[in-house]
Amino acid sequence: MEKEGYRELLTQLAHTEDLSQEELALLLACEDEEITAELFTLADEKRRKYAGDAVHLRGLIEFSNYCRKNCLYCGLRRDNRSLPRYRMSIEEIYTVGEKIARLGVKTIVLQSGEDLSYDARSIASLLHRLKKLGVAITLSIGERTKEEYALWREAGADRYLLKQETFDEQLFRKLHPDDDHSHRLACQKILAELGYQVGSGNMVGLPGQTIEAIALDIKSFQRWNFDMIGIGPFIPHPDTPLGNFAPDRKKQYLLTLKTLALTRILTRDTHLPATTALGTLVSGGREKGLQCGANVLMPNFTPLAYRSHYTIYPGKICLQEEWGKCVACMSMMLKELGRSVAQDHGHRERKKAPAEE
Ligand code: 5AD
Ligand code: SF4
Ligand code: FES
Repeated sequence: MEKEGYRELLTQLAHTEDLSQEELALLLACEDEEITAELFTLADEKRRKYAGDAVHLRGLIEFSNYCRKNCLYCGLRRDNRSLPRYRMSIEEIYTVGEKIARLGVKTIVLQSGEDLSYDARSIASLLHRLKKLGVAITLSIGERTKEEYALWREAGADRYLLKQETFDEQLFRKLHPDDDHSHRLACQKILAELGYQVGSGNMVGLPGQTIEAIALDIKSFQRWNFDMIGIGPFIPHPDTPLGNFAPDRKKQYLLTLKTLALTRILTRDTHLPATTALGTLVSGGREKGLQCGANVLMPNFTPLAYRSHYTIYPGKICLQEEWGKCVACMSMMLKELGRSVAQDHGHRERKKAPAEE
Protein backbone atom coordinates (compact mmCIF):
# COMPACT_ATOMS: atom_id res chain seq x y z
CA MET A 1 0.00 0.00 0.00
CA GLU A 2 1.16 3.56 -0.75
CA LYS A 3 1.89 5.95 2.09
CA GLU A 4 -1.25 7.89 1.21
CA GLY A 5 -3.36 4.80 1.90
CA TYR A 6 -1.95 4.51 5.42
CA ARG A 7 -2.48 8.25 5.97
CA GLU A 8 -6.14 7.80 5.03
CA LEU A 9 -6.46 4.95 7.52
CA LEU A 10 -4.99 7.15 10.24
CA THR A 11 -7.40 9.98 9.41
CA GLN A 12 -10.32 7.57 9.53
CA LEU A 13 -9.02 6.18 12.82
CA ALA A 14 -8.72 9.66 14.31
CA HIS A 15 -12.35 10.42 13.49
CA THR A 16 -14.17 7.16 14.07
CA GLU A 17 -11.86 5.62 16.71
CA ASP A 18 -12.51 2.34 14.96
CA LEU A 19 -11.10 0.14 12.20
CA SER A 20 -11.86 -3.34 10.90
CA GLN A 21 -9.62 -6.28 11.72
CA GLU A 22 -8.19 -6.13 8.20
CA GLU A 23 -7.43 -2.43 8.48
CA LEU A 24 -5.80 -2.93 11.88
CA ALA A 25 -3.61 -5.63 10.35
CA LEU A 26 -2.49 -3.23 7.61
CA LEU A 27 -1.37 -0.65 10.17
CA LEU A 28 0.28 -3.27 12.37
CA ALA A 29 2.29 -4.52 9.39
CA CYS A 30 3.27 -1.06 8.16
CA GLU A 31 6.96 -0.40 8.87
CA ASP A 32 7.05 3.18 7.63
CA GLU A 33 8.61 5.30 10.39
CA GLU A 34 6.52 8.40 9.76
CA ILE A 35 3.24 6.50 9.77
CA THR A 36 4.27 4.71 12.96
CA ALA A 37 5.18 8.00 14.63
CA GLU A 38 1.83 9.51 13.62
CA LEU A 39 -0.02 6.50 15.04
CA PHE A 40 1.82 6.92 18.36
CA THR A 41 0.98 10.64 18.46
CA LEU A 42 -2.69 9.90 17.82
CA ALA A 43 -2.76 7.30 20.62
CA ASP A 44 -1.12 9.80 22.97
CA GLU A 45 -3.81 12.38 22.13
CA LYS A 46 -6.62 9.87 22.72
CA ARG A 47 -5.00 8.82 26.00
CA ARG A 48 -4.96 12.44 27.16
CA LYS A 49 -8.58 12.93 26.06
CA TYR A 50 -10.04 9.78 27.61
CA ALA A 51 -7.68 8.92 30.47
CA GLY A 52 -6.01 12.23 31.34
CA ASP A 53 -2.39 12.91 32.25
CA ALA A 54 -2.40 11.21 35.64
CA VAL A 55 -0.94 7.70 35.82
CA HIS A 56 -2.35 5.10 38.19
CA LEU A 57 0.10 3.10 40.29
CA ARG A 58 -0.95 -0.46 41.06
CA GLY A 59 1.22 -1.95 43.81
CA LEU A 60 2.08 -5.53 43.00
CA ILE A 61 2.58 -8.38 45.48
CA GLU A 62 3.62 -11.64 43.81
CA PHE A 63 2.71 -13.82 46.76
CA SER A 64 3.31 -17.34 45.42
CA ASN A 65 5.16 -18.74 42.43
CA TYR A 66 3.61 -22.20 42.66
CA CYS A 67 1.47 -23.03 39.65
CA ARG A 68 -0.65 -26.04 38.77
CA LYS A 69 -0.56 -25.21 35.08
CA ASN A 70 1.92 -25.75 32.30
CA CYS A 71 1.57 -22.83 29.88
CA LEU A 72 4.32 -23.29 27.33
CA TYR A 73 5.72 -19.76 27.58
CA CYS A 74 5.87 -19.24 31.33
CA GLY A 75 8.75 -19.77 33.76
CA LEU A 76 6.34 -20.58 36.60
CA ARG A 77 4.91 -23.60 34.74
CA ARG A 78 4.67 -26.69 36.93
CA ASP A 79 7.24 -28.68 34.93
CA ASN A 80 9.95 -26.11 35.54
CA ARG A 81 11.82 -27.97 38.27
CA SER A 82 14.75 -25.57 38.36
CA LEU A 83 12.71 -22.76 39.89
CA PRO A 84 12.89 -22.40 43.70
CA ARG A 85 9.26 -22.12 44.81
CA TYR A 86 7.91 -19.90 47.58
CA ARG A 87 4.63 -19.09 49.23
CA MET A 88 4.02 -16.05 51.41
CA SER A 89 1.79 -16.58 54.41
CA ILE A 90 -1.47 -14.66 54.62
CA GLU A 91 0.00 -12.65 57.50
CA GLU A 92 3.09 -11.79 55.45
CA ILE A 93 0.92 -10.65 52.54
CA TYR A 94 -1.16 -8.47 54.84
CA THR A 95 1.91 -6.83 56.35
CA VAL A 96 3.24 -5.94 52.88
CA GLY A 97 -0.20 -4.63 51.90
CA GLU A 98 -0.27 -2.41 54.96
CA LYS A 99 3.09 -0.91 54.03
CA ILE A 100 1.94 -0.27 50.45
CA ALA A 101 -1.16 1.54 51.67
CA ARG A 102 0.96 3.64 54.02
CA LEU A 103 3.01 4.81 51.02
CA GLY A 104 -0.19 6.23 49.52
CA VAL A 105 -0.52 3.69 46.70
CA LYS A 106 -4.24 3.32 46.02
CA THR A 107 -4.39 -0.17 44.52
CA ILE A 108 -2.92 -3.44 45.69
CA VAL A 109 -2.60 -6.23 43.11
CA LEU A 110 -2.40 -9.74 44.53
CA GLN A 111 -0.83 -12.01 41.94
CA SER A 112 0.36 -15.62 41.95
CA GLY A 113 0.57 -18.73 39.86
CA GLU A 114 -2.53 -20.91 40.06
CA ASP A 115 -1.89 -22.11 43.58
CA LEU A 116 -4.80 -23.94 45.20
CA SER A 117 -3.10 -24.18 48.57
CA TYR A 118 -4.68 -20.85 49.49
CA ASP A 119 -8.29 -21.72 50.16
CA ALA A 120 -11.03 -19.31 49.18
CA ARG A 121 -11.89 -18.38 52.76
CA SER A 122 -8.36 -17.39 53.79
CA ILE A 123 -8.13 -15.20 50.71
CA ALA A 124 -11.52 -13.68 51.54
CA SER A 125 -10.46 -12.81 55.08
CA LEU A 126 -7.24 -11.28 53.76
CA LEU A 127 -9.25 -9.14 51.34
CA HIS A 128 -11.55 -8.07 54.12
CA ARG A 129 -8.64 -6.85 56.23
CA LEU A 130 -6.85 -5.16 53.33
CA LYS A 131 -9.99 -3.27 52.32
CA LYS A 132 -10.02 -1.55 55.71
CA LEU A 133 -6.81 0.18 54.64
CA GLY A 134 -8.79 2.18 52.07
CA VAL A 135 -7.22 0.63 49.00
CA ALA A 136 -8.72 -0.88 45.86
CA ILE A 137 -7.81 -4.52 45.32
CA THR A 138 -7.06 -6.39 42.13
CA LEU A 139 -6.81 -10.18 42.09
CA SER A 140 -4.70 -11.97 39.49
CA ILE A 141 -4.73 -15.60 40.55
CA GLY A 142 -6.19 -17.45 37.60
CA GLU A 143 -9.20 -19.60 36.89
CA ARG A 144 -11.28 -20.46 39.96
CA THR A 145 -14.94 -21.29 40.50
CA LYS A 146 -17.86 -18.90 40.31
CA GLU A 147 -18.47 -19.38 44.04
CA GLU A 148 -14.91 -18.39 44.84
CA TYR A 149 -15.06 -15.34 42.59
CA ALA A 150 -18.33 -14.34 44.29
CA LEU A 151 -16.92 -14.80 47.79
CA TRP A 152 -13.91 -12.62 47.01
CA ARG A 153 -16.00 -9.93 45.39
CA GLU A 154 -18.13 -9.80 48.50
CA ALA A 155 -15.02 -9.65 50.66
CA GLY A 156 -13.95 -6.52 48.83
CA ALA A 157 -12.04 -7.37 45.64
CA ASP A 158 -12.67 -4.66 43.04
CA ARG A 159 -10.91 -5.99 39.96
CA TYR A 160 -9.75 -9.23 38.41
CA LEU A 161 -7.02 -9.78 35.84
CA LEU A 162 -7.28 -12.87 33.67
CA LYS A 163 -5.39 -12.45 30.44
CA GLN A 164 -6.47 -14.30 27.34
CA GLU A 165 -2.88 -14.04 25.98
CA THR A 166 -4.22 -14.60 22.43
CA PHE A 167 -7.69 -14.63 20.89
CA ASP A 168 -6.46 -16.98 18.13
CA GLU A 169 -8.12 -20.18 19.36
CA GLN A 170 -5.71 -22.52 17.64
CA LEU A 171 -2.69 -20.71 19.06
CA PHE A 172 -4.36 -20.57 22.49
CA ARG A 173 -4.74 -24.35 22.42
CA LYS A 174 -1.09 -24.91 21.49
CA LEU A 175 0.17 -22.67 24.29
CA HIS A 176 -2.18 -23.85 27.04
CA PRO A 177 -2.25 -27.61 27.60
CA ASP A 178 -4.51 -27.17 30.66
CA ASP A 179 -6.85 -24.49 29.42
CA ASP A 180 -9.80 -23.90 27.16
CA HIS A 181 -10.26 -20.67 25.23
CA SER A 182 -14.00 -20.42 25.77
CA HIS A 183 -13.80 -21.46 29.41
CA ARG A 184 -11.49 -18.55 30.09
CA LEU A 185 -13.93 -16.20 28.40
CA ALA A 186 -16.75 -17.73 30.43
CA CYS A 187 -14.78 -16.83 33.57
CA GLN A 188 -14.50 -13.26 32.28
CA LYS A 189 -18.23 -13.09 31.84
CA ILE A 190 -18.89 -14.36 35.35
CA LEU A 191 -16.41 -11.88 36.81
CA ALA A 192 -18.07 -8.98 34.98
CA GLU A 193 -21.52 -10.13 36.14
CA LEU A 194 -20.28 -10.21 39.71
CA GLY A 195 -19.37 -6.55 39.38
CA TYR A 196 -15.62 -6.86 39.04
CA GLN A 197 -13.74 -4.52 36.75
CA VAL A 198 -12.16 -7.09 34.50
CA GLY A 199 -8.80 -7.20 32.81
CA SER A 200 -7.60 -9.10 29.80
CA GLY A 201 -4.51 -8.76 27.64
CA ASN A 202 -2.17 -10.45 25.26
CA MET A 203 1.44 -11.18 24.47
CA VAL A 204 2.98 -9.89 21.28
CA GLY A 205 5.56 -11.89 19.36
CA LEU A 206 4.50 -15.40 20.35
CA PRO A 207 5.77 -18.21 18.11
CA GLY A 208 3.14 -18.88 15.45
CA GLN A 209 1.31 -15.61 16.09
CA THR A 210 0.33 -13.75 12.92
CA ILE A 211 -0.35 -10.05 12.43
CA GLU A 212 -3.99 -11.01 11.79
CA ALA A 213 -4.10 -12.72 15.19
CA ILE A 214 -2.91 -9.53 16.89
CA ALA A 215 -5.52 -7.52 14.98
CA LEU A 216 -8.09 -10.02 16.25
CA ASP A 217 -6.84 -9.46 19.82
CA ILE A 218 -7.41 -5.71 19.47
CA LYS A 219 -10.91 -6.20 18.01
CA SER A 220 -11.70 -8.62 20.83
CA PHE A 221 -10.51 -6.17 23.51
CA GLN A 222 -12.92 -3.66 22.00
CA ARG A 223 -15.86 -6.06 21.69
CA TRP A 224 -15.57 -7.41 25.19
CA ASN A 225 -15.34 -3.95 26.71
CA PHE A 226 -12.66 -4.95 29.21
CA ASP A 227 -11.74 -2.41 31.87
CA MET A 228 -8.01 -3.18 31.86
CA ILE A 229 -5.84 -4.59 29.08
CA GLY A 230 -2.25 -5.68 29.67
CA ILE A 231 -0.18 -5.79 26.50
CA GLY A 232 3.39 -7.05 26.68
CA PRO A 233 6.04 -8.66 24.53
CA PHE A 234 6.65 -12.41 24.81
CA ILE A 235 10.14 -12.95 26.26
CA PRO A 236 11.43 -16.53 25.87
CA HIS A 237 12.37 -18.29 29.11
CA PRO A 238 15.20 -20.85 28.74
CA ASP A 239 13.56 -23.37 31.09
CA THR A 240 10.38 -23.66 29.01
CA PRO A 241 9.54 -25.44 25.74
CA LEU A 242 9.65 -22.07 23.94
CA GLY A 243 13.08 -21.20 25.31
CA ASN A 244 14.85 -21.43 21.95
CA PHE A 245 12.53 -19.12 20.09
CA ALA A 246 14.37 -15.90 19.18
CA PRO A 247 12.08 -13.03 18.20
CA ASP A 248 13.49 -9.97 16.38
CA ARG A 249 13.56 -7.58 19.35
CA LYS A 250 13.26 -4.31 17.47
CA LYS A 251 10.33 -5.51 15.36
CA GLN A 252 8.65 -6.99 18.41
CA TYR A 253 9.12 -3.76 20.35
CA LEU A 254 7.49 -1.66 17.64
CA LEU A 255 4.72 -4.19 17.15
CA THR A 256 3.97 -4.18 20.89
CA LEU A 257 3.84 -0.37 20.94
CA LYS A 258 1.54 -0.33 17.91
CA THR A 259 -0.75 -2.89 19.54
CA LEU A 260 -0.88 -0.68 22.63
CA ALA A 261 -1.53 2.46 20.56
CA LEU A 262 -4.32 0.89 18.50
CA THR A 263 -5.89 -0.61 21.62
CA ARG A 264 -5.97 2.82 23.27
CA ILE A 265 -7.67 4.36 20.25
CA LEU A 266 -10.28 1.61 19.87
CA THR A 267 -11.03 1.16 23.57
CA ARG A 268 -10.82 4.83 24.57
CA ASP A 269 -10.96 4.98 28.37
CA THR A 270 -9.62 1.56 29.40
CA HIS A 271 -6.71 1.23 31.81
CA LEU A 272 -3.57 0.20 29.93
CA PRO A 273 -0.36 -0.53 31.83
CA ALA A 274 3.10 0.22 30.48
CA THR A 275 4.15 -3.33 31.32
CA THR A 276 7.26 -4.52 33.11
CA ALA A 277 7.82 -6.90 30.17
CA LEU A 278 7.99 -3.89 27.81
CA GLY A 279 10.58 -2.28 30.09
CA THR A 280 12.48 -5.55 30.19
CA LEU A 281 12.54 -5.99 26.41
CA VAL A 282 13.96 -2.50 25.83
CA SER A 283 15.37 -0.08 28.37
CA GLY A 284 13.01 2.90 28.44
CA GLY A 285 10.20 0.71 27.12
CA ARG A 286 7.72 1.65 29.84
CA GLU A 287 8.38 5.37 29.26
CA LYS A 288 7.70 4.88 25.55
CA GLY A 289 4.58 2.85 26.37
CA LEU A 290 3.28 5.76 28.46
CA GLN A 291 3.64 7.93 25.35
CA CYS A 292 1.84 5.44 23.12
CA GLY A 293 -1.40 5.08 25.06
CA ALA A 294 -0.57 3.63 28.48
CA ASN A 295 -1.85 5.22 31.72
CA VAL A 296 -0.91 2.67 34.39
CA LEU A 297 2.33 1.51 36.04
CA MET A 298 2.77 -1.46 38.33
CA PRO A 299 5.49 -0.94 40.96
CA ASN A 300 6.76 -4.22 42.36
CA PHE A 301 6.36 -4.62 46.14
CA THR A 302 7.18 -8.31 46.40
CA PRO A 303 9.69 -8.74 49.25
CA LEU A 304 13.21 -8.96 47.79
CA ALA A 305 13.86 -12.46 49.08
CA TYR A 306 11.05 -13.75 46.84
CA ARG A 307 11.12 -11.30 43.97
CA SER A 308 13.93 -12.93 42.00
CA HIS A 309 12.02 -16.23 42.05
CA TYR A 310 8.93 -14.86 40.32
CA THR A 311 10.66 -15.41 37.00
CA ILE A 312 7.84 -15.60 34.49
CA TYR A 313 10.46 -14.52 31.93
CA PRO A 314 14.21 -13.84 32.30
CA GLY A 315 15.90 -10.47 32.80
CA LYS A 316 12.96 -8.89 34.61
CA ILE A 317 13.69 -5.32 35.76
CA CYS A 318 13.46 -4.01 39.34
CA LEU A 319 14.72 -7.26 40.89
CA GLN A 320 17.49 -5.72 43.00
CA GLU A 321 15.79 -2.50 44.03
CA GLU A 322 15.24 -1.82 47.68
CA TRP A 323 11.64 -2.50 48.81
CA GLY A 324 9.39 0.44 47.89
CA LYS A 325 11.96 2.13 45.65
CA CYS A 326 10.00 1.64 42.42
CA VAL A 327 7.41 4.20 43.54
CA ALA A 328 10.01 6.96 43.88
CA CYS A 329 11.58 5.87 40.61
CA MET A 330 8.23 6.00 38.86
CA SER A 331 7.38 9.44 40.26
CA MET A 332 10.64 10.71 38.74
CA MET A 333 9.86 8.98 35.47
CA LEU A 334 6.44 10.61 35.31
CA LYS A 335 7.80 14.04 36.19
CA GLU A 336 10.22 13.84 33.29
CA LEU A 337 7.37 12.91 30.97
CA GLY A 338 5.23 15.81 32.19
CA ARG A 339 2.76 13.44 33.77
CA SER A 340 1.64 12.98 37.37
CA VAL A 341 0.74 10.24 39.83
CA ALA A 342 -3.03 9.81 40.09
CA GLN A 343 -4.45 10.44 43.55
CA ASP A 344 -7.74 8.56 43.12
CA HIS A 345 -8.39 4.82 43.06
CA GLY A 346 -8.49 4.67 39.28
CA HIS A 347 -11.75 2.78 38.89
CA ARG A 348 -13.28 2.62 35.44
CA GLU A 349 -16.87 3.60 34.98
CA ARG A 350 -18.69 1.24 32.69
CA LYS A 351 -20.39 2.85 29.75
CA LYS A 352 -21.80 -0.27 28.14
CA ALA A 353 -22.89 -3.70 29.28
CA PRO A 354 -19.87 -5.89 30.11
CA ALA A 355 -18.76 -8.88 28.08
CA GLU A 356 -21.15 -8.35 25.22
CA GLU A 357 -20.56 -11.66 23.53
N1 5AD B 1 7.08 -13.38 28.39
C1 5AD B 1 6.29 -12.33 28.65
N2 5AD B 1 5.18 -12.39 29.42
C2 5AD B 1 4.90 -13.58 29.97
N3 5AD B 1 3.89 -13.96 30.75
C3 5AD B 1 4.02 -15.28 31.02
N4 5AD B 1 5.12 -15.77 30.40
C4 5AD B 1 5.68 -14.72 29.73
C5 5AD B 1 6.81 -14.60 28.91
N5 5AD B 1 7.61 -15.63 28.65
C6 5AD B 1 2.83 -13.08 31.19
C7 5AD B 1 1.50 -13.58 30.69
C8 5AD B 1 0.76 -13.97 31.94
C9 5AD B 1 1.52 -13.35 33.07
C10 5AD B 1 1.58 -14.27 34.23
O1 5AD B 1 2.80 -13.07 32.59
O2 5AD B 1 0.82 -12.54 30.00
O3 5AD B 1 -0.56 -13.48 31.95
FE1 SF4 C 1 0.76 -20.57 35.68
FE2 SF4 C 1 -0.10 -18.19 34.80
FE3 SF4 C 1 2.38 -19.05 34.23
FE4 SF4 C 1 0.27 -20.24 33.08
S1 SF4 C 1 0.93 -18.07 32.80
S2 SF4 C 1 2.05 -21.29 34.00
S3 SF4 C 1 -1.23 -20.16 34.74
S4 SF4 C 1 1.59 -18.55 36.25
FE1 FES D 1 11.47 -0.34 39.71
FE2 FES D 1 12.52 1.95 38.52
S1 FES D 1 10.52 1.18 38.56
S2 FES D 1 13.41 0.59 40.02
